Amino acid sequence: MTSSTEKPTLKKEYLPILQKLQDINKPIEARELSQDLNIGYEKLMSGAIYALQEQGLAKFTEQEEILLHLTDEGKEYVVKGLPERQMFEYFKAKGYKEISLADFQSEIEKELGFSKKLFFIGLNFMKKNKWVVSSKATGAEKIFIYNETAPETPVEQLLNYFKDQSQIFVSSIPSTLQEYLSLLSKRKIITRERITLRMVELTEEGKKIKTDQISLIEEEIQMITSEMIKSGKWKEKLAALKSYDVAVEGPRIQVGKLHPMTIIKNSVREVFHSMGFQEIRGPIIELAFYNFDSLYQPQDHPAREMHDTFYLKQPQKGKLPKKKFVEKIKAIHENGGDSGSTGWGYEWSPEIAKKLLLRTHTTATTLRHLAKVGLEKSKLPVKVFCIDRVFRNEKIDRTHLAELQQIDGIIIGENVTLSDLIGQITEFYKRMGFKKVITRPGFFPYTEPSMEVSVYSEELGAWLEMGGSGIFRPEVTYAWGIKNPIRVLAWGLGLERLAMLKLKRDDIRDLYQSNISWLREVSY
Ligand code: PHE
Repeated sequence: MTSSTEKPTLKKEYLPILQKLQDINKPIEARELSQDLNIGYEKLMSGAIYALQEQGLAKFTEQEEILLHLTDEGKEYVVKGLPERQMFEYFKAKGYKEISLADFQSEIEKELGFSKKLFFIGLNFMKKNKWVVSSKATGAEKIFIYNETAPETPVEQLLNYFKDQSQIFVSSIPSTLQEYLSLLSKRKIITRERITLRMVELTEEGKKIKTDQISLIEEEIQMITSEMIKSGKWKEKLAALKSYDVAVEGPRIQVGKLHPMTIIKNSVREVFHSMGFQEIRGPIIELAFYNFDSLYQPQDHPAREMHDTFYLKQPQKGKLPKKKFVEKIKAIHENGGDSGSTGWGYEWSPEIAKKLLLRTHTTATTLRHLAKVGLEKSKLPVKVFCIDRVFRNEKIDRTHLAELQQIDGIIIGENVTLSDLIGQITEFYKRMGFKKVITRPGFFPYTEPSMEVSVYSEELGAWLEMGGSGIFRPEVTYAWGIKNPIRVLAWGLGLERLAMLKLKRDDIRDLYQSNISWLREVSY
């Protein structure tokens, strides 16, 4: 406010506060001011002080301070003296020059009502302060007086500051004594509290300004009401209308929200639903029979090893399905059965197929559904997906987890082709926000042909592998009665890769560690 034509404006009720500050004529702490004026702190700060500041008449600065509080124990010592002082006074009052430790202890416990623990604390400090010494020279331990004057210790000097008040700012204690404060904290005589002080002070203009240089507003209008509009009164009140500072940031509201992974899973679900798929679920604890054998994975396949697969210790084995199907799978592995294949040509063991494990891929779950469709002769085409947890015995690092999630899907239909498969996968990723999808030849024991699926990340400028896909081999489908020209298109995609791209994380662990500041800032 430098121009003389532009007078500062102020609510009339704030005038006494300005005058009070002019009287005080030095910075004052806002809480103290609010007590002096008998106005609530919040009200004072957001009302008068804010208005004075806006008009360039006042300013406030923040100051970090440490407030010391006397504990209950500390309060007692302020009145009675520290235990060592009480004990020393007793010693002197009795006129002792020396006393056996045992006698001293029993007298102190009796006369001063000290616990054993407190007695030894006191004794310890008496010795530390060199008021007394102890010696075992004559047999039993004895206490001798050493310094009769026993001058006041820094701890006692500090305690003196608490004589009239149970809390005090560190800054009001002489700096030479401040270094001893930690001794008081250690002895649980005081506690510390970090607080922010707001110092209010007038600007040069605020100090000089006279009442007639201010244009005073009678009453501030917070809001124009419908009555004011009807009566036309709002026009008169316009000058008194409370102004808004639109640049002021609103309070940050931390609302509860869904976890980012849940949101992404739900959008995967939405996309598949929009493409005509239904969601299926299956067991996490799975039989090797569905996880491996039904998928034509030979029983000596390396992926079955303990270092890739988590097997259950208890129970170790589960129940296989009806003998008829077990026989079919056995035949397929041994000689191809009726699938037209020669099989793997080894002796298949039902015991290995009975093993229970943590599902290593959700393909076990889509396979179970395929079996059901075959048995029930469901109406075709069938389109289902499964988005769920799988487990692999991996060392956890930036790009690996032992528990992850997959998106498997199958389409069972007559004369469906590889082009249909490519089309569906491309469409899925397109709807998830990835424009470019590429499929390349791959290998899986259960599909022929097999394809690897990659998407292009504009952000990273790179192709990233997302999973596998293919057409289930007759060795997989024939056992369940699903035969040419009915074919099964299948895929299994990683959820975490997709999530890392969507959420811009480069450490896979971030997705599940749920760092709170990330969760707060991530959009939803
Ligand atoms: N199950 C395979 C994996 O876990 C993916 C896959 C599923 C491949 C279905 C082909 C068909 O990587």
